[in-house]
Amino acid sequence: MKRLGILLSGRGSNFDAIADHIDSEKLQAEIAIVISNVETAAGLQHARDRGLNTAFIPSRQRPREEFDRDAIELLRRHQVSLVVLAGFMRIVSRVFTEAFPYSILNIHPSLLPAFPGTDVQQKALDHGVKFSGCTVHFVDDSLDGGPIVVQAAVPVLDIDTAETLAARILKEEHRIYSEAISLVLSGRCEIVGRRVLVK
Ligand code: GRF
Repeated sequence: MKRLGILLSGRGSNFDAIADHIDSEKLQAEIAIVISNVETAAGLQHARDRGLNTAFIPSRQRPREEFDRDAIELLRRHQVSLVVLAGFMRIVSRVFTEAFPYSILNIHPSLLPAFPGTDVQQKALDHGVKFSGCTVHFVDDSLDGGPIVVQAAVPVLDIDTAETLAARILKEEHRIYSEAISLVLSGRCEIVGRRVLVK
């Protein structure tokens, strides 16, 4: 069974969806460790409630590389083959991406390359796009810019607020993240330039 390491900073609904897919055997993997840089993150508590291995690594007022080295050490110790960022609100350093080349996934609530960064549902509304969605991508040294594994689109309605749009997108996030993890773990992904092709 392939071992996942999950990093999160907040409520952890994507983590919960992944864990649910594993529990119902829709996703063939196991969660080796859940790491958070926020001690009070709801997602970390959910992981404890599920009886998973958890760790809090402080990130405040520490150099980025220092946090990353601690995380790498823990992920290696737990023999993780794929790192899953699930609402992990930190940019990872080159130390991290080099430790896990093309073995780190992130989910982002927009159709990248549109609207990288934060507050993206509001940015989508302000821009007036008619569709938005979510993207699972490999993490490289760019901000939300690595090769795209899976995307899902949702309509933007005239009556939408950032909250209603976020909720519609989140539903798709919970579906496609496990799909993307499964695809990557299957070994069928081939990265050609920026394209992730399925063999
Ligand atoms: C999600 O919208 C994800 O796309 C973004 O951060 C949010 C995390 O939500 N990266 P949750 O903690 O998984 O509920």
